[in-house]
Formats: sequence, structure tokens, C-alpha cells
Amino acid sequence: MASEPPVIDIHTHVYSSSYISLLRSRTTVPYLLDPFEKGASPRLLILPSDDDPSLPPGSRGRPIDPSYTDIGAKLNFMSTHHITASVISLANPWLDFLPPEEGPGWARMINDELEFTCNRNQGKLWAFATLPLSASPPDIVTEVDRLQTLPHIRGIILGTTGLGNGLDDPNLDSIWAALEEKQLPIFLHPHYGLPSSLYGPRASEYGHVLPLSLGFPMETTIAFTRMWLSGVFDRYPKLKLLIAHSGGTIPFLAGRIDSCVQHERHFPEHSNEYGEKSRGPERSLDRVLLDNIWLDAVVYSETGVRAAVDKVSYKKVLFGTDHPFFPRLDGGAEKWASVETNFDAVAGGQDNAGSSAILGGNAIALLGLEINPGKAEDSP
Ligand code: URA
Ligand code: ZN
Repeated sequence: MASEPPVIDIHTHVYSSSYISLLRSRTTVPYLLDPFEKGASPRLLILPSDDDPSLPPGSRGRPIDPSYTDIGAKLNFMSTHHITASVISLANPWLDFLPPEEGPGWARMINDELEFTCNRNQGKLWAFATLPLSASPPDIVTEVDRLQTLPHIRGIILGTTGLGNGLDDPNLDSIWAALEEKQLPIFLHPHYGLPSSLYGPRASEYGHVLPLSLGFPMETTIAFTRMWLSGVFDRYPKLKLLIAHSGGTIPFLAGRIDSCVQHERHFPEHSNEYGEKSRGPERSLDRVLLDNIWLDAVVYSETGVRAAVDKVSYKKVLFGTDHPFFPRLDGGAEKWASVETNFDAVAGGQDNAGSSAILGGNAIALLGLEINPGKAEDSP
């Protein structure tokens, strides 16, 4: 019998124990609140809207269990869902909030921990590293350089705020240059959402629904669009950007974004790569989507996966789960509806070649993974 093609999860997070201790030491978002009542779970308050004074502290944020920190739980989850290998990343908000002088030390510690964990679980785990974004650009570049010594690190995870002024900030240029030179893919992931005022005075009645379903994708869309508009892909044409949640709304809005640029007198007209007159960045949005952008398939619908494939090609869409977020609400360990929905969304809209590329082949190609299901030391 032919063996099943590999399934690689490129969107799967961990909060290492050192990072949890950092969150536990804090009293403002992001922080971890230990339970007041016996038997209750600690609460994780990471989103700007989590510290809602209209709610009692024990119901703010979200409960966390060992699946957020324990690699054994991650491996169990992978086995339940027939996931061959995972590319783990620290979850949001990474190290964005640290005082500048503390960032580099934490980044080194967390990236070393990721490397150690992956090394114990050869052929099953790789990682995206974390950068100390509150530090100076030379310190950030030093960490990018050091990642070359960590063989399981295959890219970096990046939030949308960059050094604090967004991803169109020219002060990021030395970091883009280092990532491009090392050909380290950037996994762009949201955290900050949209201003809470947009969610209205009844927002807490809807829990995390508005920030996660709408705030995250719009944040991602705006961050990428600013990068493109500011010419990052003209200056760094070999940059590789993997965008979370199927690019937020980029596949759906790309036409509108480009049309707004072509009708904006602010941009001088120039000849594009096809010799046509065009405005805006030298490299068109469609060209950048085809050459520089990979999208994950964490979009929970066939329509979303099809739109992603349509804009970047089926060879650049990659399966993910967003584990440990969106667990079963009954706390059960069996298959998660959030994961099954994403499997179905891939299988339902693609032929066999397309689905096996999205489920695993594309991650292997982009990240150079050597799949070899050795013994995972952290397996049960
Ligand atoms: N997914 C994430 O990665 N982070 C969140 O905060 C929620 C969902
Ligand atoms: Zn995520």
C-alpha cells in the first residue's frame, strides 16, 4: 500500500516555560494570572482587549492548560491528527513588549530552547525563531546571524508592528537585508488587531470573536500592504514572506488595493516590468504575491483556500492548525473541529496533487525539511 503523503503543520505555537515565567512576573497585558480558586486554570491575558475591567479577573483572557507549554501534548495532538511534522513558533506577542536591553537575552534563550526541543524530536519538529524587536537593529541582526548556528530554525516569526512603527519603517532595512541574504522565511502573524473602539460597547458579550475573526485578518492585511507600498519588495526582491491566516484578507482585497494605487495621483506613473504604465511600487502587487508570498491555509473554508491558491499558486499555500488555540470546548483530546475544518477546506477545493502539496510538500520545499520519522524523545 502506498504510504500517505506527509502532513506538515507550519502554524503551531508554544509558550516555553521560561516565557510563561516571564508572563507570570507581569501585571499588565501580556501576563498570566494564576487562579484564585482551587481547580481553576491559570488565565492568559495577551490581547489588548483581554484586560476588560467589566469582567471578573477569573474570566478575563482565556484559560490555559498544558497544551500551551508541553511538547508532549503537542506531539500527542500531532499524532491524533496524523500530522507528520510541525514547525513550532513562540505565540504572540513574542518579545515585542520587553525593554530594549532585555530583548536580546530573551531571544537567545527562547531560540536556544526551540533548537533544543526540536533536536530532541528529530524529523518531527522544526521552528521559527523569535527576534528581539524592541532592541536596536544591529542587535536584531546579530540574532538573525546567530540563527545560522541553530540547524532546526528554518525562519522567523514576526508581528505586525516591527520596531514599533510598522513594517514600512525604513529602520527595518538592515533586518530585511539580513533575512533576505540568509534566505530565512518570515512568518508574519497578527497580534494587535484593530482599535477596540471599533468593536463597540457590547464587545465583551462576544468574547474573542471580533478581534480574532476580523481584527487579526485586517491587521495582517494592513501590515503587508504597508510593506508593499513602501517598496520593501523592490529593495529586497528575494524576501520570502509566509503570511498567517491565508493572508488575512489579501487574496480577496488585492484587486481593490491595486486599483486604489492605480487611481492615486500621489504615486507618479512609471513603466512596470511588462513595459506598461503603472503607479506605485516597481514590482506590482500580483508579481510580489507570485514571487515573494506564501500563505498558510488556516482559513477554515474552501473559498478561503481557493482564493489563496488563486493569488499565490497551489505550490505556495501551506497547511497549519494554530494549535494550541481553538481547542475543543469540551476539553477532549480527540480530533479538534478547528483542525478538521482546515483539512476539509484543503481537500474539498483541490485535486490530489494540490492537496498533498498544501498539506506537506510545499512546507518541505520552502523550509528544506528532511522528513524522517525518528524517535521523538518527548513522545509518550
Ligand atoms: N491564534 C493565535 O495565534 N493567537 C491568538 O492569540 C489567538 C489565536
Ligand atoms: Zn497563530
